[in-house]
Amino acid sequence: MTESITITDNRTGESVEVPIVNGGVAAAEWSKVLPGIWFYDPGFMSTAPCESAITFLDGEAGILRYRGYPIEQLAEESTYLEVAYLLLHGELPTEAQFAEWKHDVTYHTFIHENVRKRFLDGFHYDAHPMGMLVSAVAALSTFYLDAKDIFDQASRQKQIIRLIAKMPTLAAAAHRFSVGMPFVYPDNSLDFAANFLSMMWKVAEPRFEADPVLVRALDILFILHADHEQNCSTTAMRTVGSSHADPYSATAAACAALYGPRHGGANEAVIRMLTEIGSMDNVPAFVDAVKSGHGRLQGFGHRVYKSYDPRATIIKRAADEVFGVTGKNPLLDIALKLEEIALSDEYFISRRLYPNVDFYSGLIYQAMGFPLEMFPVLFAIPRTAGWLAHWQEMLDQDSKIARPRQLYIGSEVRDYKPMAQR
Ligand code: CMC
Repeated sequence: MTESITITDNRTGESVEVPIVNGGVAAAEWSKVLPGIWFYDPGFMSTAPCESAITFLDGEAGILRYRGYPIEQLAEESTYLEVAYLLLHGELPTEAQFAEWKHDVTYHTFIHENVRKRFLDGFHYDAHPMGMLVSAVAALSTFYLDAKDIFDQASRQKQIIRLIAKMPTLAAAAHRFSVGMPFVYPDNSLDFAANFLSMMWKVAEPRFEADPVLVRALDILFILHADHEQNCSTTAMRTVGSSHADPYSATAAACAALYGPRHGGANEAVIRMLTEIGSMDNVPAFVDAVKSGHGRLQGFGHRVYKSYDPRATIIKRAADEVFGVTGKNPLLDIALKLEEIALSDEYFISRRLYPNVDFYSGLIYQAMGFPLEMFPVLFAIPRTAGWLAHWQEMLDQDSKIARPRQLYIGSEVRDYKPMAQR
């Protein structure tokens, strides 16, 4: 069987044979017979804008792998910092490599005092922490002018370490500001997730020691959220990065993309939905309302996963361990009922809508004491590793600037009329 397709332009009879490579066909080849004809693909549903060796995802089979390693094994045996190294370097670190990586990330956790005192303190008292994070990440580019040297390998690695290390500090600072609590400096004797929890919750104790079960659960959530190939925020990262903007500006754009309820804001939307439903008795009526077009079942459905989201299965297990420490989230019963009804309902079955990663992550975050507004921020912390892995890969591929075409459907040319004549 020939691994190619043939396209014929019926206007001219001209044909072109295009090889199928890695499951795709090069649009540039089609364009040779179709100059000026654009591929209409809203939402990039059928477009692969790049080749990537970072994450493998099979939505039909419910498979997710980072650099070839199944997500289930990484969630069981690895740590977020090791996974971040894997995503960025392509291989699991040796002991020496990991020791150096951990040291570097740990010793870049502090943020410049001006970021906190002058920049973050300038926000309105009720500012959303995600809005603060987006702005603070962009502001970092003004503190590290060497970040513009994106083709200098040493500078690039330094910015990568800075970004991964400072995200939890900025995230916790945004939270502390929004609740009127003093900023907590990083504790470099703690691991990545434990240090973040210390910066979030420390009050007057000399050293904050989070429950190890909660630390591990958060680390697992960080692993699960570290990358997800060409999602909306990673596409934003690659698009902005393709203009050769510095990595802080590109990461701020990715954070902004993650802010929306269709992407990183979905777990916040899940909790609001479960709260609105209020009791198990109201679940059937709520599902009926969704089916008749009133809103969506938040935390259900995925652009890519059309069987189950493997991350949701792992999270559901982690939730049990967290609830063992924190007590059960009262919204859990409503969530389980909703899942049970939706999974047996023809509407959801025929559209292949299953719980996604966000259906349960919000319940865990809420049980751990995080306010709703922090949920997308908690997503942004680990996804930074994925964003940067894609950014780096894109630069090494000598990619083109992202610049799609459009199908113009507006007015034909017309003459300007002075205001009095309109
Ligand atoms: N509840 C009810 N109906 C839905 C849902 C839902 N959550 N998701 C999709 N549908 C229906 C939709 O109405 C449409 O029906 P019809 O064919 O009758 O018009 C059909 O399913 C296909 O929907 P679509 O909008 O074309 O699917 P999409 O691939 O463009 O959207 C999605 C994917 C994730 C945006 C969507 O499923 C959704 O809005 N889900 C709720 C929000 C959510 O949980 N987002 C988190 C995604 S996972 C985390 C992340 O990657 O950030």
